[in-house]
Amino acid sequence: MNPTEWLGDRIRIIDQTRLPHEEVFLELADYRDVIEAIKTLRIRGAPDIGVAAAYGLVVGAQRIEAGSKAEFLASLRSVSEALASSRPTAVNLFWALERMNRAAQRGEDVEQIKAALVAEAKGIDAENDEANRRLSEFGAELIHDGFTILTHCNAGSLATAGYGTALGVIKMAKEQGKRVSVYADETRPLLQGARLTTWELMKDGIPVTLITDSMAGHFMKKGDIDCAIVGADRIAANGDVANKIGTYSVAVLATENAIPFYVAAPVSTIDFSLASGDDIPIEERRADEVTHVLGVRIAPEGVPAANPAFDVTPHRYVTAIITEAGVSREPYTETLRQPSGK
Ligand code: MRU
Repeated sequence: MNPTEWLGDRIRIIDQTRLPHEEVFLELADYRDVIEAIKTLRIRGAPDIGVAAAYGLVVGAQRIEAGSKAEFLASLRSVSEALASSRPTAVNLFWALERMNRAAQRGEDVEQIKAALVAEAKGIDAENDEANRRLSEFGAELIHDGFTILTHCNAGSLATAGYGTALGVIKMAKEQGKRVSVYADETRPLLQGARLTTWELMKDGIPVTLITDSMAGHFMKKGDIDCAIVGADRIAANGDVANKIGTYSVAVLATENAIPFYVAAPVSTIDFSLASGDDIPIEERRADEVTHVLGVRIAPEGVPAANPAFDVTPHRYVTAIITEAGVSREPYTETLRQPSGK
């Protein structure tokens, strides 16, 4: 499933808010539609947001009318800044835009710049999928035959516009002939686990059991879970990991029950400019995502609700971080730059 496809002058996406019951495809021919799709989670998941933002900048660039290179680059910068304002936590958004803006500097004239932007976005897209597959190979070595794996949120093809990260590791283990099964946290408030992870795993023929987020500890203590694996939105240089709200709870429960807690993410999700997770911006989303479920009010009118979309898991709870460069373990300040590979 490729959730974000380049059509030459527009992006074709699957609207992830309508899954799993409806497969609705949208064509986005204006960068503002890309911003709206990212804000509303029609496009979601750190790597997918990065790929979509890169193509979004191309769509924006193709519609700029400028009399000079300087004028063009000035307009391009404002398109890039608008895209960068979509969501604050997933670092792949900023990583992709920085890379695209560097590519734009290499063009001699406007046509060359536009061509360079298309090539760079396609490069980001292709390398992303390759990185997903590489990290999934490294990660699958940590998954043994017969393993039951708990995962939180959705870190599959939908979230990565590629093979998948956490779900990529599970898929790769299956492809290697290992019998694996999954417990998928529903992942309130927007239910990415219940709606997207179960959908992807069922399509891949991988046995999956849906649970509420509050059940994870129970099944860990019962001994039903062999390891937990999640994706990431931003990893600090010391190994602190930002991911979907609830991930920190899974990590603490896994540690308490002596179960490995793995994080799978491409190197593009590591923000080496941040010394620790304390500096990772956490998106605060609308209260009605908590007071309502799929648009149905569940809480009394007027009750205040908090809605941080991500949390930070301190590195001491992370057993290993799996990237396309290999497997890193403590001390992450050293190994994230040079993974041992095992
Ligand atoms: O709010 P979302 O759905 O974009 O959050 C997504 C996650 O937290 C994923 O686990 C993360 O982006 C990794 S995706 C490979």
